[in-house]
Parts: sequence; C-alpha cells; structure tokens
Amino acid sequence: MAKNVKEGGLIKESQNITPILEVNGLSTSFLTATGEIKAVRDVSFSLYKGEVLAVVGESGCGKSVTARSVLRLIEPPGYIKSGQVLLNGVNLLNLSENEMRRIRGAEISMVFQDPMISFDPVYTVGQQFTEALLAHKRISRYEAKQKALHMLSAVSLREPERVFKSYPFQLSGGMRQRVMIAIALAMDPQVLIADEPTTALDVTVQSGILTELRRLNKEIGCAIILITHDLGVVAELADRVAVMYAGRIVETGSVYDIFDHAQHPYTRALLASTNPAKEDGWLITIPGQPPVMASLPPGCSFAGRCPEASGLCVHSEPKLYPETSEHRVSCWHTQSEERKIAGA
Ligand SMILES: Nc1ncnc2c1ncn2[C@@H]1O[C@H](COP(=O)(O)OP(=O)(O)OP(=O)(O)O)[C@@H](O)[C@H]1O
Ligand code: SF4
Ligand SMILES: [Mg+2]
Repeated sequence: MAKNVKEGGLIKESQNITPILEVNGLSTSFLTATGEIKAVRDVSFSLYKGEVLAVVGESGCGKSVTARSVLRLIEPPGYIKSGQVLLNGVNLLNLSENEMRRIRGAEISMVFQDPMISFDPVYTVGQQFTEALLAHKRISRYEAKQKALHMLSAVSLREPERVFKSYPFQLSGGMRQRVMIAIALAMDPQVLIADEPTTALDVTVQSGILTELRRLNKEIGCAIILITHDLGVVAELADRVAVMYAGRIVETGSVYDIFDHAQHPYTRALLASTNPAKEDGWLITIPGQPPVMASLPPGCSFAGRCPEASGLCVHSEPKLYPETSEHRVSCWHTQSEERKIAGA
C-alpha cells in the first residue's frame, strides 16, 4: 500500500519519547450466569502524541470494552481484573472516582458508538455543550458559548447558532455525531477515543466526519484511538493498528505492516474479507464463528477457524511476538522453533 508510515512506537521509545497513554496487561471480565466472559484479555498498547491507533476486529471481540476500561466505565457484573492504564505515567486504575471524573472528558474524551445515548433529550445541544465545558474548564458561560459555537463550525456544521439551540432529536444522525466530536474536542483532550464514529451514517456523511477527525488530529495534535469495522477508514486515517480477536490483540503494527505484511491468519482473513464494493465497507466472510467468550478453548482462540492450525495451536495459546518489534503477532506459525517447543 502506498502510504507514508509515521514513526513507529519503537522508534519513539528509542528517542525517549514517552507515550501519552500506555495500557499494560489489561483484563476485563463480566461475571454472568453462564460463566466468566473474559471480554478483554491481557491487552497492552501505547499511544503517542498526534498518533491514530485503529482497533479492529469482528463484533464482540472486545473493542468497546477495552475503550470503556481505559475510562473505567465498566459496570457490574463487569470489572477490571488486572493491568495498568497509564496516562502520562499515572495509573488511572488507582485513582478515586472523583479524580477519574476529572480525567473523563477533559484528558480523555470519548465519542460513543451511539451518539443518542450520550445526549439528554430534554436539554438543547447548546445547554449540554456549555455545561460540559463549564464542568471542566475555568471559563465564563459567555466564553463557553463562544467556544461551543467555534467548535460546532470547526466540525463543519453549518449554522452553528441553529445547531446550538436545537434539541438532539431535531438533528440528523450525522449532525449529532459531529456535535459529539465537537464536544469531545472542545475539551482539548490529550486522547480522543472514537468508538465506531461513523457506523450507521451514510457514506458521504462518514467521509465528512473522518475528514474532520483527521484535520483536527493534525491541527490539535491529540492522539486518537479509532475503533472501526471499516478497513478502508483504517488505511486512510491510522498510523498503527491493533487487530483484536476473542478479547486479545492478535496482531499489531504500523498500517503498512498490517496491510502489506499481515502475518496472523485472522488478519489476513479480515483483509481478504473486505469488499470495497459494499456500501458498509466491510463484509465479514470469514468462515466459522468466534469462540463463546464464556468458555474459551485452552489454545489459540482462532484455532477452530484457522486453516493453518496444528496440534500445538489447540493446546497452547501463543503470545504476541517478538516483544522487541513494533510489528507483533500472536501465532505459533510466526514463532521460532525454540518458542514452539517451549510452548508445547
Ligand atoms: N454488560 C455486559 N455483560 C456481559 N457481557 C458483556 C457486557 N458488555 C460486553 N460484554 C461482552 O464482552 C464482549 C466484548 O464486547 P464489546 O462490546 O467490547 O465488543 P465489540 O468488539 O465492541 O463489538 P462491536 O463491534 O459489536 O461493537 C462480548 O462478548 C460481549 O458480549
Ligand atoms: S496459532 Fe495456530 S490456530 Fe492460531 S492463528 Fe496461528 S496457526 Fe492459526
Ligand atoms: Mg463496540
């Protein structure tokens, strides 16, 4: 693929540039009547200033639970089992709920999958926008309104005054999504988590929102975690990609590594299943089903669908490897004989 690949995380590490956000060994489960759903298992990634990290994978693989865990928005019967979420070196998992409230929105903003649930239907967009600003910033109500109007036009909403006075139901889905992005970015967050920001929107609206996201990412320099089903969007917007399967990252690397040198059979299947002719961008045609999350098999969770599975795969789960590379893969077939023997 012809794309300028930005400096990767490892290069930044070697330059002593510390990530804004570092997630280490994050595991989140839901205790249900059918058993423990291990929705997120030992997930680790870093995010650097100005970077766009795309998180991709089939429905139910743990993308949203990962994002919500970063913000500690997991409600019972869910809980974060283990790991670290370091924002500029501070572990968010150790903060009090009050401290966490200050982080949410201000330091890390999130655009949720369904913008309607993020709005209160009884207040206007303007009231909700200004209240959000006043809660996090030391500015007057007048300044909050001016900032809100500025951000509404920054996300290319025509007639920002009219949008400001509207109730959420008076706006189209695309406009609500833009308002969400405007509110999220008005906080000047260090990190923006966008969970399927364009799903369910028509193609022209999608492309407008993505153009805004990219422009704002470049101008404001905030790092973005972009959760999406659409590999076309990933190719266009992301610097790095994490591919999730059954709660784990199974391959991660630069957009170039993933699109031109994918090694995990699941990533390769995802890429092969992309059908650009389809309007919704990504048609999943990978044979078989993901495993039941409440009773995961002992070995590689992709083994039941993998054309390359061997005896080792069924018994032992591979780790992401090599640890020292930016491009890491969790598949026995990409690992050395010594590791295979140790894993068996
Ligand atoms: N409140 C909950 N109770 C029980 N299980 C849950 C709950 N929320 C999520 N899960 C389970 O956690 C797993 C991961 O869910 P998640 O929402 O992160 O998937 P996703 O990758 O975001 O999928 P999608 O692409 O459909 O949004 C799924 O198996 C889901 O059923
Ligand atoms: S570890 Fe085995 S089953 Fe899993 S993806 Fe690799 S080859 Fe397939
Ligand atoms: Mg989701």
